[in-house]
Amino acid sequence: KKLVFSGVQPTGNLHLGNYLGAIRRFVQLQDGNDCIYCVVDLHALTAQLVHDDMLSQTRSIAAAFIASGIDAEKHIVFNQSAVPQHAELAWIFNCVARLGWMNRMTQFKDKAGKDREQASLGLYAYPSLMAADILVYRATHVPVGEDQKQHLELTRDIAMKFNLDYASHIRKTNYGIDITVGDEPVHAYFPMVEPLIGGPAPRVMSLRDGTKKMSKSDPSDLSRINLMDDEDAISRKIRKAKTDPDGLPSEIAGLENRPEAENLVSIYAALADKTREQVLAEFGGQQFSVFKPALIDLAVQVLSPITGEMRRLMSDTSHIDAILRNGNERARARADVTMRELREIIGFLY
Ligand code: TYM
Repeated sequence: KKLVFSGVQPTGNLHLGNYLGAIRRFVQLQDGNDCIYCVVDLHALTAQLVHDDMLSQTRSIAAAFIASGIDAEKHIVFNQSAVPQHAELAWIFNCVARLGWMNRMTQFKDKAGKDREQASLGLYAYPSLMAADILVYRATHVPVGEDQKQHLELTRDIAMKFNLDYASHIRKTNYGIDITVGDEPVHAYFPMVEPLIGGPAPRVMSLRDGTKKMSKSDPSDLSRINLMDDEDAISRKIRKAKTDPDGLPSEIAGLENRPEAENLVSIYAALADKTREQVLAEFGGQQFSVFKPALIDLAVQVLSPITGEMRRLMSDTSHIDAILRNGNERARARADVTMRELREIIGFLY
C-alpha cells in the first residue's frame, strides 16, 4: 500500500492538462493505496496575493476532485491552509534547503520574470512548502505532471539532508524507518518520495502551439480546454487546434517534429486509457478531418459528466464544505503525529 499525496492550486480554471497530468491519475491511484489530495491555497498566494475568488476556487478544485471520482471517505480531500502543520514544517525545511538548490528552480526563474528583486520570498520558498506538504504525511508517492519533476527532486534533497543531519537524533527515538538510497541502507525519518509522472500525457501542450505547455495563464482561451467548458466550446477549440497538413502516421516515430499532432494523439490516448501506439494503430493513415471529430466525441464523453457533476456540487456549497471540514480534521490529526515526532527529534520543548 502506497501513501500517495498530491496538490492542485486554486488559481484560475482547471484545464485538460491538470486533469490528464494529475487529477485523472489521482483517481486511478485510489485502488489499494492510501491517498491524500490537497487544494494548496497557501501556494496560491505566491501567484497573486489578493484573490477575490479564493473561496470559490478552493471549493471548485475540491468539487473537481469529487466529480472526477475521488472517494473522500476512503481517502482525504482537504485544503492546505486549514492544516497549519504544513507551514510549520515548511519553516524547518527553509532552514534545511540551501540557497544554491533554490536558485536552480526553473519554475521560480520563469515565474519571477526579469525583475527578480520584485518577486516575493514566498515564490522563492514555494518548493520548500511543497516538500512540507508531502513529507508532513511522510508520503511516498506523488502523482504530478512533468512540470513538477524538479520540485520533487528538491523534496528528495531536503529529506535526505534532514535525515543525514539529524541521523543521531533519529536513532535515539523509535520513529526512524529503514530505507535504501542507491544501494546504501539509511536509517531515516523521511522517506524518499517517488514522483509518479507518466501515462500518455504527462505534459499536455497548448492547442495553439505544440511547443508550449497548456497553462492557466495563457492569454488565449483557445489554447486550452477548461474543465468547465461546455460541448460547444470543446468542439470549437479542438476544431481550431493547430495541426500540420499531413495525416496521422501509423507509428510513434512518425510523430517526431510534429508537436501538435503528437499532442492531440497523446490527449486522445490519455482520455481513452490507451497507449499512443494503440491510437495510431486505429487512426494511422487518416486525416485530421477524421481524427478531430473522434477526439471531440471522446473529450465530450469523458469531460461532460465531470463538468455536470462539478456544476451540481458548486450549486450548494454545504456538501463540499462538509467534505473539506472532514478532510481537514483527518489531515490535521495525521500531520500532528509527524510534528510531535519531529519536535522530539529536533529538541523543541513543547
Ligand atoms: P498546479 O496547480 O500548477 O497544477 C496541478 C497539477 O497539474 C499538472 N499540470 C499539467 N500536467 C500535464 N500537462 C500540463 N499542461 C499541466 N499543467 C499542470 C501539474 O504538474 C500538477 O500536478 N506545485 C504544484 C502544486 C503542489 C503540489 C504539492 C503537487 C503544491 N504542493 C505537493 C504535488 C505535491 C502546482 O503548482 O500544481
